Amino acid sequence: MSTAEQLFQSAQKARENAYAPYSRFEVGAAILTTSGKIYVGCNVENASYPCGTCAEAGAIAAMVASGERQIAEILVLAEAEHILPCGNCLQKIAEFATPNTLVHSADLHHIIASHRLTDLLPQIFSLEKTDGK
Ligand code: THU
Repeated sequence: MSTAEQLFQSAQKARENAYAPYSRFEVGAAILTTSGKIYVGCNVENASYPCGTCAEAGAIAAMVASGERQIAEILVLAEAEHILPCGNCLQKIAEFATPNTLVHSADLHHIIASHRLTDLLPQIFSLEKTDGK
């Protein structure tokens, strides 16, 4: 099975646990790290709407909690024509990725598109660029 297919199946399973009673838009995400491990996340909403977290954020938290920090590929999956990580999540992904890191988008059946992170977020906020101010 290809790594993209493994990510697809992992995100599909994680999406089944999504907690999205408010938007009813369930999302799953899966990260392949450079060490070859997979971490998953799903969106977790809250009655106080801004407290909700995206699937990608959950997968990143699981990865970091396990001591890993290098995203090789990430996949986000939802019942949608073409889901892409939100801007907030692109910045979170960028913290642990490179410009060439692949970001796959999938619907419930297959991967729809694969983009390089830099094509989705050409510029990132980085402390190195702020001169420490
Ligand atoms: N959502 C994600 O989990 N990931 C994305 O990339 C886009 C949006 C979630 C947040 C919220 O729970 C629901 O989808 C609707 O916006």
